Amino acid sequence: MDYRRRSIRDLLGSEPGGGAEAYGWVKTRRDSKEVSFVQLNDGSCFQDLQIVLEAGTVADDLLKKLSTGACVRFEGILVESPAAGQTVELKATALELLGEADPATYPLQKKGATMEFLREIAHLKVRGNTFGAVTRVRNRAAWAVHSFFQSRGFSWIHTPIITASDCEGAGAMFAVTTLLDHESPTQDEAESTFRLKSTDPGDDFFGKPAYLTVSGQLNVESYAMGLTNVYTFGPTFRAENSNTPRHLAEFWMIEPEMAFCDIEGDMNLAEEFVKEVISDVLDNCGPDLDFFNQRIEPELLTTLRHVVDSGFERMTYSHAVDLLMKSGENWEFPVSWGSDLQSEHERWLTEKKIGKPVILIDYPKDIKAFYMKQNPDGKTVRAMDVLVPRIGELIGGSQREDDLATLEARIDELGLPKAAYWWYLDLRRYGSAPHSGFGLGFERLIMYLTGMKNIRDVIPFPRTPGQAEF
Ligand code: 4AD
Ligand code: MG
Repeated sequence: MDYRRRSIRDLLGSEPGGGAEAYGWVKTRRDSKEVSFVQLNDGSCFQDLQIVLEAGTVADDLLKKLSTGACVRFEGILVESPAAGQTVELKATALELLGEADPATYPLQKKGATMEFLREIAHLKVRGNTFGAVTRVRNRAAWAVHSFFQSRGFSWIHTPIITASDCEGAGAMFAVTTLLDHESPTQDEAESTFRLKSTDPGDDFFGKPAYLTVSGQLNVESYAMGLTNVYTFGPTFRAENSNTPRHLAEFWMIEPEMAFCDIEGDMNLAEEFVKEVISDVLDNCGPDLDFFNQRIEPELLTTLRHVVDSGFERMTYSHAVDLLMKSGENWEFPVSWGSDLQSEHERWLTEKKIGKPVILIDYPKDIKAFYMKQNPDGKTVRAMDVLVPRIGELIGGSQREDDLATLEARIDELGLPKAAYWWYLDLRRYGSAPHSGFGLGFERLIMYLTGMKNIRDVIPFPRTPGQAEF
């Protein structure tokens, strides 16, 4: 056995004639008197390979073991298929059962499993249509992200996951410490306890409080101040207790950062980026997207193509608030100038009012992070959020405050620990440059690309409040 065999994807693209072998997991089996049909999938593509087993090819008791989930190897001949939607099928001559899956207990049975149930079997769900397709789209989109930046000369920077600075200044961070002893006298989780070895952060592993990063931005900014065009793409962590279909405690973020670039250039990059990744996935994940279009989100392909072809609307936060206040809608969260926009507002703007992605700029400084470039009006900052239909906020970014005194004053004003930001301030002290960047939530992009309704279903092993199984 060697990985350099023909996958099911390769076999389905082969001409009929000649011997072949196929490995995979059984999706379904259908028997008649003369023949059995097995749908075999190995995850290499959406389509199954149809295996035709003429009666007598294998013993009856072995045939019975070809139940959903069983792992098998077939040998046979690729023949032209009379069935619709496939050019070839495998006429089997031999079968090797690699791993049985007892139908009495195998959890991923044929049809009708809810997303909630599938989340409980996250270790097996990828064998089904939906999660196989999500995973292939996710993989292709990640590839498209790198190819977008690499083809434009951006360097990929590996920013740290453990950090001592709070990038967003919002405090929703997971602590990283070795000061906690986990004691579990019995193996019973309910009886286990934590014991604190010291209350002095100086005794901790890093000699000070450390956290899982909420964003690679601060670090990547320092690399933009030397390599000019850079990006990060990695996991980030937020300890917010938000149980919504759009929030994870662990999610992946793509954060480009560009020296010599203002907010206009930042918006241009964001728009180009979203369009190119969508376009790449449209070109390369056809059968997976067709499935989402048929089963998950009927308007999916139309909207994705529409996004690629249309310009994103751009407007100020103030104008958006005006529209929201005059909308006549009955908001759950009231809107006024200065309030943070909620998902219902973002979605109304992009879905109902504009009907395509919208970029909002110039937000009130009090609802945005400390590092954003202040506008001369003293009230707003050069922030930009990209809102898209079905999702709301897909991207958050800004031009950065590059003036040392202004940035220091803002950090003081917000009561943030200035000493901890010493190195970030140095970037303004020595050779400061106008620069901008943004963060795109990768899972939100995958929701957008697939039409999946819950962010937990577009990452292999979701982490949310109360959930860290698998
Ligand atoms: O708007 P955010 O918080 O921006 C930043 O973190 C900046 N440091 C980015 C930058 O300028 N370099 O997050 C960026 C994006 C959001 O627009 C959203 O798509 C996603 O990250 N995001 C989440 N996705 C899933 N679960 C969460 N809890 C998320 N929080 C933010
Ligand atoms: Mg944001």
